[in-house]
Amino acid sequence: LKAATALVAGLVLAACGKQEPPPAPAETASAPASAPAPAPAKVYTVGTDAAYAPFEFQNEKGEIVGLSVDLLNAVAEKGGFQVKFVNTPWEGIFNALGQGDRDLLISSITITDERKQTMDFSDPYFDAFQLIAVKESSKISKFDDLKKLKVGVQTGTTGDEVVTKLQGKTATTIKRFESTPLALKELEAGGVDAVVADNGVVIHYVANNPGAKFKTVSDKAFAPEQYGIAVKKGNTELLGMINKGLAAVKADGTYAAIYKKTFGTEPPAAAAPA
Ligand code: ARG
Repeated sequence: LKAATALVAGLVLAACGKQEPPPAPAETASAPASAPAPAPAKVYTVGTDAAYAPFEFQNEKGEIVGLSVDLLNAVAEKGGFQVKFVNTPWEGIFNALGQGDRDLLISSITITDERKQTMDFSDPYFDAFQLIAVKESSKISKFDDLKKLKVGVQTGTTGDEVVTKLQGKTATTIKRFESTPLALKELEAGGVDAVVADNGVVIHYVANNPGAKFKTVSDKAFAPEQYGIAVKKGNTELLGMINKGLAAVKADGTYAAIYKKTFGTEPPAAAAPA
């Protein structure tokens, strides 16, 4: 009878929607014998523009793979959280984060002061720089040579930024594409004279598309860049878990193993900034 009374009391309490919430279990004088089942762990939704080999791309089965996926999976394991990757076009990726459609982004995103105003970044996990791709026969030898030429970039990337700075905001010779591979296809087709994009992606493309007959041109004028994992501004809880996991994978050799799996070489000391 006692149990039944308690049950009814509980039901009555539960029915009074606006009542004070019951005290947290830790505060109750006599804790129940068995703790209530923990709430199912939240799975964080990860946005990535999976057209960026070898960092994030789709394999033959359509699965999102690459360094970013291996790295974030390892980071999540060490940081104590779960993730689910969702292919997200670059052009909408920052909005998706801001609106809460994605909890975090890993997409070879360069940490910039401008982006830091609208999102928070993890500690850096990869060093990069811009690299120029041209046809093997091209006479282009430095960035400044591109001043008046047709240049392909991925819209809204740091490659777009540097070329826009070189040619001016109103330049009609900048051809913007929704993905970097599309810009490189246009170079192959002869529609642009050069493509400016992140070194890792350009090198990967040139190596894997010998038929395109490309070469790369580097220039010390390009500022060093670092990739970070982005979270919504103020999401310190998730950011803390990410940074904790990142520190752990850098420290225990997991980062180096993922780097080696991706590029076939040991990471340079600078590739895994402390
Ligand atoms: N690092 C460059 C940037 O942050 C390009 C990144 C593009 N990433 C991608 N998955 N398409 O602007």
